Amino acid sequence: MAGPLRLGPVLRHVDDRSAAVWVETDRAATVTVRLEDHPTGRTEWHRPTFAVHDHHYALVEVTDLTPGWRTAYQVLVDEEVCWPEPGTPFPPSTLSTTTGDGAVRMAFGSCRTSVPHDALHHLTHGVDALRTFALEVADGGTGPMGRRPDLLLLLGDQVYADSTSAAMREFIASRRDLDEEPGPELADFEEYAHLYGLAWGEPALRWLLSWLPSLMIFDDHDVRDDWNTSAEWREQMEATSWWHGRIVAALGSYWVYQHLGNLSPGSRARDPLWQELLRRERDADGREVDLTAAVDAFAGEVDADPTTYRWSYTHPLGGSHLVVLDSRAARDLTPGSRSMLDGPEMAWADEQLTGGHDHLVVATSLPFLLPRGLHHLESWNEALVDGRWGRWSAVVGERLRQGLDLEHWGAFSESFDRVAAMVDEVADGRRGQAPSSVVFLSGDVHHSYVTEVERTTGSRILQLVCSPIRNPLPRAMRALVSGMSHVARPLGRLLAASAKCPTRGGRGTGWPVPGSTTTWPCSRSTTGTCVRPGWPAACWAGRTTARG
Ligand SMILES: [Fe+2]
Repeated sequence: MAGPLRLGPVLRHVDDRSAAVWVETDRAATVTVRLEDHPTGRTEWHRPTFAVHDHHYALVEVTDLTPGWRTAYQVLVDEEVCWPEPGTPFPPSTLSTTTGDGAVRMAFGSCRTSVPHDALHHLTHGVDALRTFALEVADGGTGPMGRRPDLLLLLGDQVYADSTSAAMREFIASRRDLDEEPGPELADFEEYAHLYGLAWGEPALRWLLSWLPSLMIFDDHDVRDDWNTSAEWREQMEATSWWHGRIVAALGSYWVYQHLGNLSPGSRARDPLWQELLRRERDADGREVDLTAAVDAFAGEVDADPTTYRWSYTHPLGGSHLVVLDSRAARDLTPGSRSMLDGPEMAWADEQLTGGHDHLVVATSLPFLLPRGLHHLESWNEALVDGRWGRWSAVVGERLRQGLDLEHWGAFSESFDRVAAMVDEVADGRRGQAPSSVVFLSGDVHHSYVTEVERTTGSRILQLVCSPIRNPLPRAMRALVSGMSHVARPLGRLLAASAKCPTRGGRGTGWPVPGSTTTWPCSRSTTGTCVRPGWPAACWAGRTTARG
């Protein structure tokens, strides 16, 4: 990462008229995005950097673009052309606006560890499917989708703040004693900035992210394993010496690195922190604004009261519509009335889940539809934690909840039922014209599958899971989970019935799912499963061998 461009460019929200280009620089500077050509004659857009904890960022909003226009672009830091890098082996980075309608081809996935791309780490962590895809496209290929995707959706665990690589631990050890809390886990913004550099600085991936628009949402490991699984979990974290610093750094860096670029120009203009930046820039007379205190205060406030901010967002997909739900920060953890989405978030989801689109695509980092047995198992555990059989059962239930990661939608059963009812109404045409399908996209579970709700009327409702990009389950765990799907179904049904769990499956509606087809990686180094061509969303399989 030589030169003033420390990271990026990362092409983020792109629509028919605008594109967001995010960069991190090594100094205060003016960042310019220069298009090779454009019909209106305007080819340059500028932004000053802003600082957070002595790091420098710019999000250049390239606006007033022509729909369906594709052109190569450069990034300049002050007057110096920094992208493409001199002597790069990769093709020019292009910027393509959408046409505003028509099909959009989207790749998605989750769970990507950032370790070296050598034989040893291929054995321990698998091959990085995203990097492999980048190398294939750079060689002129199209990848398993047969055509370059238009959009990349990253569904969580983009970075691992709790399980760190040797390179990350080396950096941490250069700053503080690893024997003191939080040990090899991340402690502050500086460490997050380093982690993002490790995750996104690899040359092939960096090139991919420079031309393929990406959208993102966090999952637990972006913060910590099991983030917000329960009120008790939060109390345990808040009792530590390091949690407050960690969550402030996690959410602050997430806003800077991931969230800001998810937003359309209109949504960004309404973002309070972005508004604060623009307000202070107006008074700064061209000098860089230091946003550190505002970012830290914002992160602390939204963690203390998640109802004050929304990480969820929507995105147009041609004639289809994408709703990205935050299924981590916006939880209501109140025992007895827990909900995956708190009140304002649920009301927002209720407004967004409508018909009138070719397809309705709902992204949630945690699968909405688990195999039925696991779903019921989680609902049973929720009843246990809520003390259905007394205090002892609550204690045992909480241990199981945390130990076995029983924290998916089935473990927040009332909110599962509410969202399922909304989706039923969409699919039945009771919320506007029924779309051709309602598709949930998810990650998190380190295996991939496609499953469908059994319905006799209305539109299809499917769940697609694509995980991991690079972080496979150990072989023994794969066999265990695969076997569990057979055992868990009757067991889960039995347990759920014993707890009188109000599961939708019990009402004979086909929910949560009649069964599921789980597709395992064909080798430990691949990921993904392909769905039928022509769908608005398709995950792609990584190749079995590493290249480059
Ligand atoms: Fe996760």
